[in-house]
Amino acid sequence: MPASRYRPETRLVHSGTLRSQFGETSEALFLTQGYVYDSALQAEKRFTGEEPGYQYSRFSNPTVTMFERRMAEFEGAEAARATATGMAAVTLALMGQVKAGDHVVSSKALFGSCLYIVEELLPRFGVTSTLVDGTDLDQWRKAVRPNTKTFFMETPANPTLEVIDIEAVSKIAHDAGATVTVDNVFSTPLWQSPLALGADCVVYSATKHIDGQGRCLGGVILGSEKFIMDNIHTLLRQTGPSMSPFNAWVLLKGLETLAVRVRRQTDTAAAVSVALAEQPKISRLIFCGRPDHPQAAIIRKQMRGGSTLVSFEIKGGKAAAFRFLDALKLVRISNNLGDAKSLITHPATTTHQRLKPEQRAELGISDGLVRLSCGLEHPDDIVEDLLAALETA
Ligand SMILES: Cc1ncc(COP(=O)(O)O)c(C=O)c1O
Repeated sequence: MPASRYRPETRLVHSGTLRSQFGETSEALFLTQGYVYDSALQAEKRFTGEEPGYQYSRFSNPTVTMFERRMAEFEGAEAARATATGMAAVTLALMGQVKAGDHVVSSKALFGSCLYIVEELLPRFGVTSTLVDGTDLDQWRKAVRPNTKTFFMETPANPTLEVIDIEAVSKIAHDAGATVTVDNVFSTPLWQSPLALGADCVVYSATKHIDGQGRCLGGVILGSEKFIMDNIHTLLRQTGPSMSPFNAWVLLKGLETLAVRVRRQTDTAAAVSVALAEQPKISRLIFCGRPDHPQAAIIRKQMRGGSTLVSFEIKGGKAAAFRFLDALKLVRISNNLGDAKSLITHPATTTHQRLKPEQRAELGISDGLVRLSCGLEHPDDIVEDLLAALETA
C-alpha cells in the first residue's frame, strides 16, 4: 500500500498488513519461535540473505514485521525495529551509535531510566556525556566536542512538559557531525514528527499511547534504512531485546485506534487544564496546548496538538499532594501513562525518585508537582473528581 496516498488515520488501520493465504481481516498472530525450510539449500540461502524470509523470531517475525511497518509508515520513517520495552529501545538507540571514547550530549529533563543510561551506563563503557538545559540552544552548542556522536532529548519532557526546538537542535548537531535521537513518547506520533524536523532517530515506549489500554510492554526505534542497518539491526539480532509476537499483535490493534484515542485524550487534557487554571490551591499548571506554556512558540511550530498529559503543582508540598492523590476516587494513582484510564503520579517520589533533590529542583520537579495522564472517561467526570479531591487537599 503506497503510504503517501492516505491520511494518518487510514495508515494506522491498514499499513503494513501481511495477509496470509487464509485472507483474515484482523492481522494474524504468528506465535512461533522458528520457521521450517523446504530444503537444506533454502535454509542456507535464508542465512546468507540470498533468499528473503524468516529464520528465527529473535531476528524477525511476521506479526512483529507488521507492527514495524505500520509504525514506520505512520512516522514517515524508512525503517523500524520493535523492542521488548521502551527502555530497550532507548538503550539500543544510544548504545548502537557509540563506542568507547565517544561523547553524548543530552537534555537533562529526562525520564529517570533514560537519565541512568546517559549518566551511569554509557560512562561504564567509556562514553562520556554532558547534560544541558534542552531549552537553551547555547548550551547544546557549547557542549559539542570533536568526539560528540549523538544528541539525545525527550520532548515534551517527563513530567514538566518542557519542549525543545528539535529543528534548531538538529541543525547544531548536524553542523557538528552528530546525529539526533528523540524520545517522542509524550507527544505521540500523532502530534509530532521528529524525523521531519531533522532528527535521525525516534524512539517510543509503545507501552504508553500505542498500546493505550495498559496491557503490554513494547518499544520501537525508527530512522532511515541506513541508520537502522548501521546502528540497530545487528545489535538487536545478536543481543535479543526483541518484541514478542503477542505484544506486537496487541500493539498493532492499539495503533488502529491511536488517533481516535489520542485526540480525545488531548481534548480532555485541555478541558482539565481550563478547569484547574483558576484553582487557588494550584500554584503552577503546565499543558502543551496553553498559550502560557514557556515554549508556546516552539509548540506552535513543531507540534500538531497538545498532549494527553497535564502537570500541576499543589500548594503545600508533598503532604498536600499526597492528600490530593489519596482523595481521588476515579483517577487512579499509577506511574504509567497513555492509558484509557486516567492515571496520576507524584514524580518526586516515583518516576524521578532516584534523582538527587538538587537535580529535581533544577528540573522544576517540586514536592507538590503531580502528573496527570488523561484517559478516555467522560471529561466532566475527571474534572469533578479532581475538583472534589482539591477541596480535601
Ligand atoms: C519518556 C519515556 N521514555 C521511555 C520510557 C520507558 O518505557 P518502558 O516502560 O516501555 O520501558 C518511559 C516510560 O516509563 C517514558 O515515560
